[in-house]
Amino acid sequence: MTIIIKSDDEVKIMREAGQIVGQTLQQIREMVKPGINLLEIESFVEEEFKRRGAVETFRNYKPGPQFPPYPSNVCASVNDELVHGIPTDRVLNEGDIVTFDLGATYKGFVGDSAITVPVGEISDEAKNLLKVTEESLFAGIKAAQAGDHLNDICTAIEESILASASNYSIVTNYVGHGVGREMHEEPQVPNYRLAFKGPRLRHGLVLALEPMVNVGTPETYECEDGWTVRTADGTLSCHFEHTIAIREGREAEVLTLP
Ligand code: MF3
Ligand code: CO
Repeated sequence: MTIIIKSDDEVKIMREAGQIVGQTLQQIREMVKPGINLLEIESFVEEEFKRRGAVETFRNYKPGPQFPPYPSNVCASVNDELVHGIPTDRVLNEGDIVTFDLGATYKGFVGDSAITVPVGEISDEAKNLLKVTEESLFAGIKAAQAGDHLNDICTAIEESILASASNYSIVTNYVGHGVGREMHEEPQVPNYRLAFKGPRLRHGLVLALEPMVNVGTPETYECEDGWTVRTADGTLSCHFEHTIAIREGREAEVLTLP
């Protein structure tokens, strides 16, 4: 597999895909209140994709032969669920935190983004976890400069997390990725410092950065549904993701920022 560089015209389409995802996530953030159930969010996403002419990306996605096809358009992961939570009729309660991870394909290109949102009033610990994780995503974006290397992004994310919360853990079992016509392209983008520089960041490289941070240990496990991933020790977990395009001579463009 090789890294696929996108032309300016392709990045323009990816911006449209990114906006569909980013704006839909923004609407989800506004819908989230104690008492709402996750299937209401899933139906909203379905309607929204139809209205905007987006093609489903997550539903029926199968990363490998051991996975059942993913059944929904959005991943909804509550509290100690880290990623890939399947929406059910579970009702959200005051104090929960929920990660919504959303992918849409538009004119053949994928936008991929995730936010963790509070349900009503949340604990100070949860607030801090959200802040630390989101800040690390923006530290990674800031480091995504043409001419630098992949490891500059990875190191910036790690350093940001450790500088503000050295007692939290960075999840290493899941990483960011290149994104384009496929949701998962080369290169992988870990959220921790690498022992090598990695590929050079070039104009037209499009990446999904997605730090995941746990309050407790970094270990995770997959649930019986074949998808939902939880923290091994049951502590809170948080995840933010943006699709970004590397631009020569300026900061990376955040395609999924609404
Ligand atoms: N957004 C997730 C990622 O970046 C993908 C969700 S998995 C799916 O890897 F099956 F739901 F698509
Ligand atoms: Co992703």
